[in-house]
Amino acid sequence: MGKLVAISDLHVRYEENRQITERLRPADEDDWLLVAGDVGEMSEDIEWALTLLAERFAKVIWVPGNHELWTPPDDPLRLTGEARYRWLVDLCRRLGIVTPEDPYPVWEGEGGPAVIVPLFLLYDYSFRPAGTRTKAEALEVAENAGVICTDEFMLKHDPYPSREAWSRARVAATEARLAAELPPGVPTVLVNHYPLVREPTRVLRYPEFALWCGTEATADWPLRFHAASVVYGHLHIHRLTHHDGVPHHEVSLGYPREWQRWLKDPGRLVPVLPKERTAVER
Ligand SMILES: [Fe+2]
Ligand SMILES: [Fe+2]
Repeated sequence: MGKLVAISDLHVRYEENRQITERLRPADEDDWLLVAGDVGEMSEDIEWALTLLAERFAKVIWVPGNHELWTPPDDPLRLTGEARYRWLVDLCRRLGIVTPEDPYPVWEGEGGPAVIVPLFLLYDYSFRPAGTRTKAEALEVAENAGVICTDEFMLKHDPYPSREAWSRARVAATEARLAAELPPGVPTVLVNHYPLVREPTRVLRYPEFALWCGTEATADWPLRFHAASVVYGHLHIHRLTHHDGVPHHEVSLGYPREWQRWLKDPGRLVPVLPKERTAVER
């Protein structure tokens, strides 16, 4: 029986990560792969990695990370913001990969049934440092601590007036879609590049970086939308934590200097549903 497995933050711009990506294979021909963002930032790299994965796995489900949404100065693809996201969605559709814009597939293999919900929600600067009340105050604290995310220069947000406006629009549209479309009584697997709750960001080496890591608006989504499992990346802190009884899997590979130090088995695909699962108890 196939397994539902996940990975994120492949960052294939690095040769060592490219080699790990080339070795990713399903253990069973029915395995589905969740790719929780940050495959890379160059359009050619993203296309290379997603093509390879789509050929190998029975189904691939992808959500964008911040890196896919960058417009690097040396990328021939000059699209920015929403137009760049749409280009990525079109690429995935050509490859048969499921995106946040597609109907939610139902996993029927090990640990199923579960509705797989790929999410694109960005962040809205609401994970602010203690004592700050606005984005401006929070950015000032972060800047004074020497922390600034490259997104501020590379992640364009047009046609939205700001990244937080884009995030709010995504949260509102997704919330409405989930309320309308999720079948009753079937648990979900929520897949997002960023954590859905703030707690996992508490262990960041630079806590101010949490500003670029999610939104308070999704704190109750795992319970509200009956998550059997939550899958995310972005933090590059590979681990499993539980919040309100729901497992949250951070499935990053991360940069070579990180995985060479922290991961025993870099490129291991993380199974995100247990073999035996009783009905969601709540
Ligand atoms: Fe990343
Ligand atoms: Fe990221």
